[in-house]
Amino acid sequence: MKKAKIIAVANQKGGVAKTTTVINLGAGLALSGRKVLLVDMDNQSHLSRFLGYDSTDGKPTISDLIWQTVAKLKQPVESAIRSSDLDVDYIPSNFMLAGIISILGTDSDSTGVLTRLFADEAFQAYDYIIIDCPPTLDLLVSNALNACDKVLIPVQSDYWAYEGVDQLLATLQLVKQSKDIKPYVLGMLITMFNKRTNSAKAIKEAMDESYGSFVFNTAISFRDEVKVATIEHKSLVEKKSSVTGQQYMAVVNEIISKEEQENG
Ligand SMILES: Nc1ncnc2c1ncn2[C@@H]1O[C@H](COP(=O)(O)OP(=O)(O)OP(=O)(O)O)[C@@H](O)[C@H]1O
Ligand SMILES: [Mg+2]
Repeated sequence: MKKAKIIAVANQKGGVAKTTTVINLGAGLALSGRKVLLVDMDNQSHLSRFLGYDSTDGKPTISDLIWQTVAKLKQPVESAIRSSDLDVDYIPSNFMLAGIISILGTDSDSTGVLTRLFADEAFQAYDYIIIDCPPTLDLLVSNALNACDKVLIPVQSDYWAYEGVDQLLATLQLVKQSKDIKPYVLGMLITMFNKRTNSAKAIKEAMDESYGSFVFNTAISFRDEVKVATIEHKSLVEKKSSVTGQQYMAVVNEIISKEEQENG
């Protein structure tokens, strides 16, 4: 039976373009014919609101699905899945997610709850499930890292974002209980890159040196069009003339060719 490929987009540093990356890779994979589900694991709900989430729709959110899984309640998960104009489905988060961390803490397998949730048959309808992680390294993120097949780490061209990568990889090693985490790393994506600045060049060199082939060949430029698209609730990949849209599509193609290589 087909199994959805689960990608966690994570970096505990805030504002490095995690949500922007989830939106554009999701929309880009959908444009390439893949069936995509986006999961908002951040109580800021930026992804949900971008996709048009109506918090009064009365349907369950990711918080409900998580506590139902902890409580071993067999509720259908389909009612938590919404469709969006971007041709991707999504499960929204709301502010309740902050309180879910303590509920996760009561589970005997506190980092395995999301893995159990995604085992539900309803998720097999998707080619890709992409999780938008919060800017933390808490139990929510440990659950996402545990549940994912691969992690994608956006790294803003900034020293602290770069420095945080090792800490994230150490957490990945812990939750996967494996010294070799290479199979679990999809790649590091340099975001908000300004090729004219020496600092951006220095971070790119350091990334290439530290993580070599795990760094995506394509970097995402720092451009105002990204902020404009956020305001307009549009993806960049749907805008033919968008430079960053083309860059995100190039990353989508890198992901698809990695997938094809793995499938032989
Ligand atoms: N390439 C880019 N060029 C310019 N601005 C960008 C770029 N990528 C993202 N941004 C802007 O930077 C801000 C932060 O991006 P985003 O919300 O995607 O980051 P995040 O990592 O999800 O943040 P958080 O940690 O709060 O969840 C947003 O206003 C977004 O529009
Ligand atoms: Mg975000």
